[in-house]
Amino acid sequence: MTTTQHTLNSGFGPHSTADDVLAGLDLTGRNALITGGYSGLGLAATAALARAGAHVIVPARRPAVATAALRDVPRTQVLPLDLADPDSIRSFAEQFRENGPVLDIVIGNAGVMAYPVRHIGPGWEAHFAINHLGHFALITALRPAFARTGARVVSVSSSGHFLSGIRWDDPHFRHDYDHWAAYGQSKTANALFAVHLDELGASDGLHAFAVHPGSILTPLQRRIPRSEQLAQGWLTDDGRIAPGFKTPAQGAATAVWAATSPLLHGYGGAYCQDCDIAEAALDDDMLVGGVKPWATDRDAAARLWTLSVELTGVDGFADSPARYR
Ligand SMILES: NC(=O)c1ccc[n+]([C@@H]2O[C@H](COP(=O)([O-])OP(=O)(O)OC[C@H]3O[C@@H](n4cnc5c(N)ncnc54)[C@H](OP(=O)(O)O)[C@@H]3O)[C@@H](O)[C@H]2O)c1
Repeated sequence: MTTTQHTLNSGFGPHSTADDVLAGLDLTGRNALITGGYSGLGLAATAALARAGAHVIVPARRPAVATAALRDVPRTQVLPLDLADPDSIRSFAEQFRENGPVLDIVIGNAGVMAYPVRHIGPGWEAHFAINHLGHFALITALRPAFARTGARVVSVSSSGHFLSGIRWDDPHFRHDYDHWAAYGQSKTANALFAVHLDELGASDGLHAFAVHPGSILTPLQRRIPRSEQLAQGWLTDDGRIAPGFKTPAQGAATAVWAATSPLLHGYGGAYCQDCDIAEAALDDDMLVGGVKPWATDRDAAARLWTLSVELTGVDGFADSPARYR
């Protein structure tokens, strides 16, 4: 199913927090996995889901840092995983399929932004590799662990997808590297992943959504010099966070809403923002947001899936009835 991009009037909005969208929901007995769930938005999502009763597994590139960050958050479990390393992903998925619990919720949240030019592994551009290919390999390899009763996958995208569609001729930026275009391409890939995963997962009862969290100052911006943050209007002249930015708890709300909202029963494959399904973007204002056509295009989503299978060698949905539509 690919849901049309129209709001559902969810009753929530940009100021809603992750706790707000979970009010009245009891997630006792449900299992969630949140990549990067120990920093910024991921930490806020982990804490809120755990408060609502879920058991939350947090794969971590830096397990000691994750353990310290989650010290006071009950019902969490840290496991080592580096999304930049295919061997780490393979061994995580193998062990999880063998010993892990059934998964009701997966939030592909970990991400990097604004790297200077960097290629990893077999020459993959780092944003595309970590933000998209790593999550693609992980989540599709975890398919046998998903609950067959309405599991949800949330792929954390961004209005950064405005900055680039998929560069089919040069996805690894052999030419013309620009860190914003590289981040933008990876966030378009996150959105397209949800579109095609929703289609292939339907026969398992699995649904997928992409989300734009909003703008939130977190460690994600660690590579952006303060002068650029001032020039971009993220900080005011006296160093305060600019109006229009969300708190981490507000930034986590849309992913948590997409992962749990009863209103989304029967929907899938949509791009969400501000705790609702997003409308099509009217212009290029990333603060207003909405979704660009290249991030919801079903043919592009299928083409990216094929490219991702070729690059990673992981084809967890090869036998899905929708695979060769
Ligand atoms: N903040 C915003 O305004 C904003 C806006 C739109 C979209 N987003 C998206 O929201 C998501 C979360 O961002 P955030 O702002 O919360 O950033 P953050 O605080 O920097 O968190 C990112 C997380 O990703 C993890 N990570 C990075 N590289 C990894 C790797 N190779 N393997 C495993 N984990 C890795 C980080 O772990 P380490 O700390 O150990 O590296 C960290 O836990 C990202 O996907 C981002 O693109 C954020």
